[in-house]
Amino acid sequence: MTTINNSRAKELKKDFPIFKVKMSGKPLVYLDNAATTQKPFPVIKSIERYYRAQNANIHRGVYPLSEKATELFEQAHAKVGSLIGAKQDEIIFTRNATESLNLLAYSLPSLFEKGRDEIVLTEMEHHSNMVPWQQLARRRNMKLRYIRMKDGFTLDYGDAEEKISDKSAVVAAGHVSNALGTVHDVKRLAALARANGAFSVVDGAQSVPHQEVDVGEIGCDFLAFSGHKMAGPTGMGALYGRKQLLENMAPFNFGGDMIRKVSYEGAEWNELPMKFEAGTPNIAGGIGFGVAVDYLENTGLRAIGAWESELLRYALDKIKGVKGVSLFTPGVGKSSGILSFNIDGIHAHDVASLLGGEGVCIRGGHHCAMPLMGKLGVAGTSRVSFYLYNTYEDVDIFIQGLRKAKKVFGV
Ligand SMILES: Cc1ncc(COP(=O)(O)O)c(C=O)c1O
Repeated sequence: MTTINNSRAKELKKDFPIFKVKMSGKPLVYLDNAATTQKPFPVIKSIERYYRAQNANIHRGVYPLSEKATELFEQAHAKVGSLIGAKQDEIIFTRNATESLNLLAYSLPSLFEKGRDEIVLTEMEHHSNMVPWQQLARRRNMKLRYIRMKDGFTLDYGDAEEKISDKSAVVAAGHVSNALGTVHDVKRLAALARANGAFSVVDGAQSVPHQEVDVGEIGCDFLAFSGHKMAGPTGMGALYGRKQLLENMAPFNFGGDMIRKVSYEGAEWNELPMKFEAGTPNIAGGIGFGVAVDYLENTGLRAIGAWESELLRYALDKIKGVKGVSLFTPGVGKSSGILSFNIDGIHAHDVASLLGGEGVCIRGGHHCAMPLMGKLGVAGTSRVSFYLYNTYEDVDIFIQGLRKAKKVFGV
């Protein structure tokens, strides 16, 4: 297995041109990867190449330029599919994980059985895997049930066994909490959903970029994720769905490209994935997404996950030496490379803003998980999130920045 260590991470960093940029006059230390990641040269070049030499609309043209663009866009579906153990036609390109989850909340109910009127989520969901289901519950008069979080920031699987029942229509859970880093046992949740006849949805926005994910291994019906959180361009996301389910589901958007035949009276839907990709898609973005997948596969997803765990271990070790810090983490082994914390006497936003002055990008706030913050009894936290190009030195600079922030605030 290829591994990543500190010197390899420094080499990888050179693939990302943004690290030549200074922020606040200091070298850029980017630790906000859960929000979006930086982009390597091959991805940037593929997008430039498309607009310079390959630009044409897809699926419609019968001239070579259009045929080439179509081929590249379809290949990108195949690459994204192969990353997660899925076939090309089981991958729908969307704008982001949020759109993938909204698509499901609109289209999946056409397959709900009568009498199943409960939607099961966890207390730790990102708003993107909560608000679309809340809206669905309103539209269809369904009930929302939330699997509890235990002390120690992990899920209560006993509670999951109680809440997932023959009344459940769908169980939708994040694979990794973006706010706390907790890795959930989605295989167990998918098995519980299946045993109770419910559909299973995994929000993989924080797992697919950082670890090996295989939909067959998880046993889920659907998986949503974002290309821009995995070295790909913004405006790109994906939804995996089991083919038979996608074939039976109603489309989400209607118009060009998603139809096979149209009359004045009605229309027939195109084959997968076009049925769910109405209109001209983000062609350059899709191609760039495919190239990002190549980059991650060449680097090694398992190596990326292992290196992020090592950085988390290192950061936990260092941050424990800073007085007045409270941590919101299940710890190494149960967490991905995300570390949430607060410093007594300093608001999370002020921590992030002071660190910004030191060239360090971290996130402060509710992390789009307001109900979870309420449950934790905080308005927000500060969050560091790692990716393949982060180094021990990045962590050291971050820790120095924290000490400086404490001095500024006199705490
Ligand atoms: C767990 C999780 N789900 C969903 C999303 C939404 O992703 P996007 O903004 O790319 O739609 C995020 C973004 O931070 C996330 O962390």
